[in-house]
Amino acid sequence: MKIAFFDAKSYDIPGFNNCVKDTDLEIKYFETRLNEDTVSLAAGFDAVCVFVNDVLNKKVVDELYKLGVKVIALRCAGFNNVDTRACYGKIHVFRVPAYSPYAVAEHAMALLLCVNRKIHKAYNRTREFNFNLTGLSGFDLHGKTVGVIGTGKIGRIFADICKGFGMEVLAYDKFPNPASGLHYVELPELFAKADVISLHCPLTDETRYIINDDSVEQMKKGVVIINTSRGGLIDTESLVNGLKVQIIGAAGLDVYEEEGDLFYEDNSGEIVQDDKLVRLIGMPNVIVTSHQAFLTNEALDNIAHTTVDNLQKFANDEPNPDNEVCYHYDRKDDCRK
Ligand code: NAI
Repeated sequence: MKIAFFDAKSYDIPGFNNCVKDTDLEIKYFETRLNEDTVSLAAGFDAVCVFVNDVLNKKVVDELYKLGVKVIALRCAGFNNVDTRACYGKIHVFRVPAYSPYAVAEHAMALLLCVNRKIHKAYNRTREFNFNLTGLSGFDLHGKTVGVIGTGKIGRIFADICKGFGMEVLAYDKFPNPASGLHYVELPELFAKADVISLHCPLTDETRYIINDDSVEQMKKGVVIINTSRGGLIDTESLVNGLKVQIIGAAGLDVYEEEGDLFYEDNSGEIVQDDKLVRLIGMPNVIVTSHQAFLTNEALDNIAHTTVDNLQKFANDEPNPDNEVCYHYDRKDDCRK
């Protein structure tokens, strides 16, 4: 089975090479992302292996099908960048549902600690032997309330970490999990009571812009917003306005709604044209990381193993319903046809 591996990075390649070395899988690595301009590179391959910012819209999916590609192997959990409806009945889509929920939850806490305790500013100051503390005050997390939106694998681990800090956790989920022991509330109550809000739900039509002008208006003054999930959960304009009027006290963002053209690349020599991102990065109380919450050795290892396993199971015609993404969730078996 020949696999075209798009958006290949130096940290992906060793793990994948190691996993395929005793298999019939053959990988060709492309640094470029998969999109309408690059889809022709998939000619002659049985599968494409893609990541979060590859674009698999209907046009790309139809073209992949015409080129004879049978499988899309996502190296990530989220699949909002794939038109699964267009894939249905034509191309099988597999994902890695969990590679390390700990990695993402721990990064969310790292962003919260950093932005609250101004570690990013302190680091720059002490490097210049400026030991002044003015402007570096934060608040105790102990005793504060955190609102966790989305209580799946990552959200629940993040909630546990917060409990370890002595925080009170309020949770919101479209499908609350009674076994989690979490205190579920409706969104207005969460917005009104939370000192910190952390997003851990997937990006869907329903959750797009779950943080918007209206929700910001309901929030407590000084609230800290953490987003390690997907950029599209936040209307960036509402976030910027909330920060400007100081309803939002700080933000830690690992994802950004227009990250596709910028994240994972070195743009340090360019004039970045995205004014909203430039405004955010220019704020002293905002930290942006480049969709790196997953980036631990354990997660990279799990991604390579699960992706290769998904491809081998497909090659051997073994059912793999837990990792197959099907447009018809209620009729999973149809994905094998
Ligand atoms: P999960 O599938 O275990 O949990 C998602 C939770 O969101 C579920 O409990 C689900 O019921 C809930 N949910 C679904 N629709 C909702 C809605 N309309 N409102 C509120 N909650 C809703 O997923 P997991 O593994 O916890 O990942 C969460 C998200 O984290 C992923 O969707 C992905 O976007 C993001 N992620 C980010 C990474 C990064 O490197 N920054 C890496 C991995 C995942």
